Formats: sequence, C-alpha cells, structure tokens
Amino acid sequence: MTALQVALLGYGTVGKGVYQTIHQHQARIRKLLGREVKVAAVLVKDLSKHELPDQEVILTDQFSDILGIEHIDVVIDAIVGVEPGFTYLQEAIKKGCHVITANKEMFAYHSSTLQNLAAEHGVTVGFEATVAGGIPIIQTLKKLLNANKVQSLQGILNGTSNFILTKMREEQLSFSEALTLAQQLGYAEADPANDIEGHDAFYKAVILSEVLFGEQPVWEDTVREGIAEITIDQIDYFHSLGLRFKHVASLEKAADAIKCSVKPVLVSSSHPLYQVENVQNAINIEADIVGSISLQGPGAGMFPTASAIIEDLIHIDDKEYIPCFDEELSPVSSATASVWVILGKSAIIDLPDSVSIIRKIGDTAWLVEATEDSISAVKELPCFQLLGSVDQIPKVEKVY
Ligand SMILES: NC(=O)c1ccc[n+]([C@@H]2O[C@H](COP(=O)([O-])OP(=O)(O)OC[C@H]3O[C@@H](n4cnc5c(N)ncnc54)[C@H](OP(=O)(O)O)[C@@H]3O)[C@@H](O)[C@H]2O)c1
Repeated sequence: MTALQVALLGYGTVGKGVYQTIHQHQARIRKLLGREVKVAAVLVKDLSKHELPDQEVILTDQFSDILGIEHIDVVIDAIVGVEPGFTYLQEAIKKGCHVITANKEMFAYHSSTLQNLAAEHGVTVGFEATVAGGIPIIQTLKKLLNANKVQSLQGILNGTSNFILTKMREEQLSFSEALTLAQQLGYAEADPANDIEGHDAFYKAVILSEVLFGEQPVWEDTVREGIAEITIDQIDYFHSLGLRFKHVASLEKAADAIKCSVKPVLVSSSHPLYQVENVQNAINIEADIVGSISLQGPGAGMFPTASAIIEDLIHIDDKEYIPCFDEELSPVSSATASVWVILGKSAIIDLPDSVSIIRKIGDTAWLVEATEDSISAVKELPCFQLLGSVDQIPKVEKVY
C-alpha cells in the first residue's frame, strides 16, 4: 500500500516533535495504519533558520508549493496565529486533504467553518492537540463518553499559569519572579500575555464547549481573568487555611445559556484539581452515569503535543462520530449560586442582600453563597469562587 503523505505546516516546538515522532515510531504507526507515514513537505516562515534531517523532504516558505504536490493525504498545522493557518487549512480541505491542527487560537475562531467545509469534502479535522496538550480529552469526550451526558467540566488548561501559582506558593516567589522562571525554563512565551491573562485557557474552553454542547458560549458573556493580580500574601493566607489558587476554566450548560468562566479560583483539598501542580494540566468531568472523572497530564511541550497529533493521525479515517447534543442538560440556571471566599475585614459589613454569609473561615476571610452577578457587586473586596468541599476548612469560633 502506498505511504500516507503528510505535509507539516511549521517546524518549531510542535512541528519538530511531530516530525521526530513519525520517524521514531514508524513501525508502530505502520502497524496501526496498515501503511507507512511519510512527511512529504515542511512549511516554515524563515527558510534560513532550518535544515531538515532528510534531504528528500521538501522545505519551503510558500504554501503554494505544498498545494502543488500531486498527492498529500494529511496537512498538519503547527503554526501560530489565526492567519495564515485558517486560510491554509481551508485550501487543504478543498483539495481533499484531511487536516490536523494544534493551533487553538485559530480553531477557537473557526472550528465550525473548518468542520463544515471538511464534511462537505468528505475529510476530517483532528484537533486533539488544541486542548491540554497530551491529555486525550477531545477523543474521550467524542468517542468514549457518548451515552453519558457531561453536565459540567472544570480544567486547569494553561500550564504556565499553574506553574507560576505553584512556584509562588512553594518557593515564595513574587509573580514577576515566577514568570521570569517560567520564561527561563521555556514554559512561557517572551510575550506571556496569552497565558497569564487567560486568553489561552479561554480558547481551549471554547473548543471544549463545542465538543460538549455543540456550541460556543457567548464570548462577551464569559468571565476571563488571568492570574497577574494574585499576590503572594493572598497565596500564603489561603494556604494557611488549606486552600490553593488554581487558574480554572469551567463550563456548564445551564437552562438559559452555556456558563463559561476562566479565572483564578480557590480549591480545597477534596477537589481533584487541588493536587495538580507545576505545568501539569487536568480536566475534571461530571457526567450523569459515570459520575466524576479526572484526566491529568502534560498540557504542552514537544512530545506531549506531538502525541496528540499522532493519535489524530492514527484515527484520521475513523467513521464520523455522530454528536448527540441535548437542548438542556442541567436544571441549573446561569443565576444559580456558588460558594465564594471574600477576603475582607475582621467584621464584614455592607454586603448586598443577594450575598449570604455561610461562615467566617479565617481572621479576614468569609465564606459566602452568591451568584456571579451578585458577587461582582462586591467590588471593593477580593472575591474568589471556591471549588471542593468546605468541610475541611477550620471553623472560626468567634463569629461576627
Ligand atoms: N508549544 C506547545 O507546547 C504547544 C502545545 C499545544 C499547541 N500548540 C500550538 O501549536 C502551534 C505551534 O506552536 P509552537 O510552540 O511549535 O510554535 P513555534 O515554536 O513558534 O513554531 C512555529 C512554527 O511555525 C512557523 N510559522 C509561523 N508563522 C508562519 C507563517 N506565516 N508561514 C509559515 N510558517 C510559519 C515558524 O516558522 P519559522 O521557524 O521559520 O519562524 C515555526 O516553524 C501554535 O498554534 C500553538 O498554539 C503549541
């Protein structure tokens, strides 16, 4: 059988990982696919920076050279930014190629256009690598949790933010020291805004929402906050109460809308995300038959991301899955209350009626119940949503 011909867009961290993985794991891939996989061409931006190990592979800076190759089966997108990736993948699909992408920003904007176009042309779109690197969350949701209705999902989807929060707590680093360390270790970009302002986790949440619910949340209605405002004093104080800060993306289909938020929250030790440290990612799923499931693993990096892409490649010809989206999955409305911690004063005053105090949990911290809207009215005091049980949090005897 003829080899499966692949074109690789991008030869950076991810592109090199894919190239090497195809070569190093050829025997196993051949066994699984029934034929060899060959990288036919690689597209880069700056030719002068690159030399490929195999001289037979075309190295080009022109996408037209890729389209001009007589037979390409799969185009793998490992470049950055919404464009030119979106245009290139549309062109590839129109030419009859399957496509696989790691580019979450582009896919968050254009997933439905690409998937509809692919369906028209009888090809598939793999996007496992767009969310949580090596964790096989997309295939799990699409293929292994079909009878289950997934009611909600919470995930640590940005390894850089998780690394910074972990180092601030464990090594008493300031936010900027922890960020510098993340950059020195290659976890954060030179411009880290995408990671620390929550954009990266937001794109991933949007992609997960489409897989789970068949639609995206309204972007403007999503709470998107990064971690730059978290101070070492806050981290220490909550640590003394047994709580950890985590940057968490949450999704839930409520009766009236998809609830989506990406923000720093406090997590108690009973919650699966409490133990997820450093650059690890994790996703906790609540489904109606199985209950609670957590997947944890490396959320980025050369080989974890290549792993996700190669698994998509192996399944490129799988029969199309039939999504089953329910009109309404959860009886909750977007106005359902959650538990929050307000960091305030020793005596709490002037809370709106819609915020009810549960109890005091430290000298200056209060556990309250409120909706997202009500809590946003408590502007003058830092408020953080709490995930996990509150039973382990010590009671403060002397109450207000
Ligand atoms: N790094 C990760 O761990 C990770 C994990 C999951 C998803 N992703 C996603 O995967 C994609 C690639 O990430 P990366 O970390 O591999 O980035 P990277 O190291 O910066 O590499 C990007 C590659 O794309 C090429 N490129 C950029 N713009 C191009 C253009 N206009 N035309 C042709 N080639 C172009 C660059 O060419 P030159 O080398 O010539 O400049 C480079 O080879 C991104 O969308 C990222 O969000 C990354």
